[in-house]
Parts: sequence; C-alpha cells; structure tokens
Amino acid sequence: MPALSRLVVPWAAFSSLAVAATAGYFNDTSVCADPKGMQKCYDKAETSYANCITSNCSDGSESCYDSCNGDTTCMATQCPNIGVDCINVCGCVRATDRIDCTASSCWNHVYSCEYQETAQDALNLCLNFDMDQIPFWPVPENAAGRCSCNIGKLARKETLISAQLTECSNNKTNLDQLSGAKDMTNYTQACTCCAQSAIVSAIWSVCPNTKPSKIGADYWYDVFLGPHHWEECGPYLEAYDCGSDLGYAAESAGDTHTFYKPNNLPKNGTETLYNTGGVLSTPVSGATFTWTDGSLLHGITAASINNVASATGTGAQGATATATGTGASATKTGGASIYSPPTWAGAGMAGALALIIA
Ligand SMILES: *[C@@H]1O[C@H](CO)[C@@H](O)[C@H](O)[C@H]1NC(C)=O
Ligand SMILES: *[C@@H]1O[C@H](CO)[C@@H](O)[C@H](O)[C@H]1NC(C)=O
Ligand SMILES: *[C@@H]1O[C@H](CO)[C@@H](O)[C@H](O)[C@H]1NC(C)=O
Ligand SMILES: *[C@@H]1O[C@H](CO)[C@@H](O)[C@H](O)[C@H]1NC(C)=O
Ligand SMILES: *[C@@H]1O[C@H](CO)[C@@H](O)[C@H](O)[C@H]1NC(C)=O
Repeated sequence: MPALSRLVVPWAAFSSLAVAATAGYFNDTSVCADPKGMQKCYDKAETSYANCITSNCSDGSESCYDSCNGDTTCMATQCPNIGVDCINVCGCVRATDRIDCTASSCWNHVYSCEYQETAQDALNLCLNFDMDQIPFWPVPENAAGRCSCNIGKLARKETLISAQLTECSNNKTNLDQLSGAKDMTNYTQACTCCAQSAIVSAIWSVCPNTKPSKIGADYWYDVFLGPHHWEECGPYLEAYDCGSDLGYAAESAGDTHTFYKPNNLPKNGTETLYNTGGVLSTPVSGATFTWTDGSLLHGITAASINNVASATGTGAQGATATATGTGASATKTGGASIYSPPTWAGAGMAGALALIIA
C-alpha cells in the first residue's frame, strides 16, 4: 500500500498556489453549506477510489495512480494495461459518491457548473447509467445559481442522439424499402450524417453564447465527426429527412429540428463557463431524499445550513422543499477548464457510441 495520505487529496497536494480548499471540480469548498462535511466526504470518496484502483485493477496501478494524480483520463491513456474498464468502474463509483457528497454538503450549489460536471462524470464513466435518475440534473430553466451553459441538457441530448443512431441504422421500416447494397451504404451514411448534424445542432443551440470548445465540440469532432466523413455530409443532409424519416426530431431522440451542414455552421459563442449567480437557500429536494443508481439506493440528508446565511447574504429559511433563488451574489466562478468532455475511453455514452460506429 502506498501511503494513504499521499493519495487522499491529490488536488490540494499538487496545486502549490491553492489557498482555498478544493474538492473535485469545486475549487473552493468554502461556498458550500457545510464546507468541512464536503471536504471530509470528498476525501473519503477519494480514498475508496484509490483503494478500488490499487486493489482491483491490475499490476502497476499504484504507480499509475500516483503519477496521474488520480486523474481518470490520464490513467486510461498513460497506462491502459491496468484496464480501462476497471478504471472506469472505479471512476463511476467515485462520481456517484461525489454526487452524494454535494447533494448533502453543498446542496446550495447543485446547479453550478461544478456539480453538473460531477454528474457528467457519472454519465460518462458508469455503464448503463439511467441518466434520468441523476439528482438536480439537468438544471431546470432559470434555476438559481445555475451554470451559464446547461451542460446537463446538452449531455442528455447527446446521449439520446447517440441512441437514435442505433435506432436509425436498425429501422426496419426504412431498411425494408432499400433495394441494393449502394442504397444500404447511403442509408447508413445518412443515419450517421444526421446524428453528426444533430450533435452539432445541440452544441451550438443549447448554449449559443458558450465557446463550442468549452462544451465538448473538439471532442466530438475528434472521435465522431472527423473520422466519419462529416465534411461530406452535405448531399446526404439534403437528400434525407433527418427529422421525420430518420427519426431525429422525436423527443426521445434528442428533439432536433435544425440540421446544420458542414459548411454552414452558426457563429461560435465566445463565453467560458461560469455560474450565473443567485444562491439556493433551502435544499431543492428537501432535508432528505433518495435517488437510485441501478439497484443501489442513495440516501441523502442535507447538511445543516450554517454556512448558507453567509453564502447568500440573507437569512436561512429552514429546510423546506422549495428552491429559492435570492439572487444575492453574482460571483463568476468556473471558467477556463471546468468542462471535461467524455473520456475517449468512457464506458458510457462515448463508449457506446464508439461501438455503434466502429
Ligand atoms: C474493489 O475492491 C473493493 C475492496 O477493496 C470491493 O469492495 C469492491 O467491490 C471492488 N470492486 C469495485 C468495482 O470497487
Ligand atoms: C448515394 O449518394 C450519392 C451521394 O449523395 C449519390 O450520388 C448517389 O446517387 C447515391 N446512391 C444511391 C444508390 O442512392
Ligand atoms: C468554432 O469552434 C469550433 C469548435 O471548437 C472550431 O473548430 C472552429 O475553429 C471555431 N471557429 C471559429 C471561426 O473560431
Ligand atoms: C423509422 O422510420 C419511420 C419511417 O421512415 C419513421 O417514421 C420512424 O420514426 C422511424 N423510427 C425510429 C424509432 O426512428
Ligand atoms: C475558482 O475559479 C474561478 C474561475 O476560474 C476563480 O475566479 C476563483 O477565484 C477561484 N477561486 C479560488 C478560491 O481559487
């Protein structure tokens, strides 16, 4: 066993300038309803994660964990021999632990970019994760303290679009009408082009003001659009009806109604990600609630609201099941590198997509 103290709080240990206490995507836990509880809970999740990697994944995982500072993507790329699936399973557990930590101890920031990123990790790393179960995700319209881009809404669309690619490729109604091999090749390419166009539409329309590169555009270009002839999709997008015939307009398929062509993209937004201000003064789901991940039940108890008075500048109202935005502070947190797109190795959305289009 490596010294645990070295494994427990890698972010704090490696960031020489950090004064504030950090926890995962949160660069300053002092904003949380219960900063100490948040830190303790994240530390515990990190210890379990380190144990999971070093005791369950194959040889060399300890030194890999150390050299990568626990970063999932780094481990998957630098030392794939320890098992990408194993790293992902451990990362999945850590992500759900972090969801629990935040829901209990930092419930006043569940609509922040930081929490939404945390939820995104669960979606990317967990196999067959039921995204509709993720608490506080996606963020409701106009929620207090929300991230400038509704990254949950975007990720949800991307997941549905990816699933529709399979539906489209297997759509019997359409396949039955095809007569030859050429027809078939064209139809398959059309399904792919429509999915690519729908992904572009989602990135550029859900958050038109956000720089596309901050919300995964480059990732999608690298793994899906570039390698699958997106540049040649123009004629297919004209010849086929992506919305109706190929099904991409359906609510269950991502609800896409505008299909951009490769040479006809909307203007890029210019903003980075930041929290728009406003603070939750009572836990959105009440003092206690549960959520399920597969068959696993997570019981959440919102921590005391000691710190919220100072965080919002208004008195705490008690733990009722209402979400109240006070709009008291408009701090811009977030920015530069908060958004991490799905890891290329992700077992969830990205992995499923890779399988479909392989
Ligand atoms: C990994 O090992 C721990 C014990 O160290 C065990 O409880 C757990 O079920 C194993 N699997 C995963 C995925 O964590
Ligand atoms: C397949 O698509 C190409 C390019 O859009 C087109 O030229 C060709 O006629 C199509 N072939 C069939 C069989 O539809
Ligand atoms: C718009 O964003 C995309 C994705 O990050 C990038 O490839 C492209 O170069 C950008 N276009 C401009 C004009 O900046
Ligand atoms: C299958 O194709 C039909 C006809 O083109 C379309 O109406 C239907 O929505 C498609 N089904 C799915 C699940 O995409
Ligand atoms: C957290 O990050 C934001 C944006 O990058 C920055 O403005 C803020 O000062 C950071 N807070 C701390 C305590 O480092």
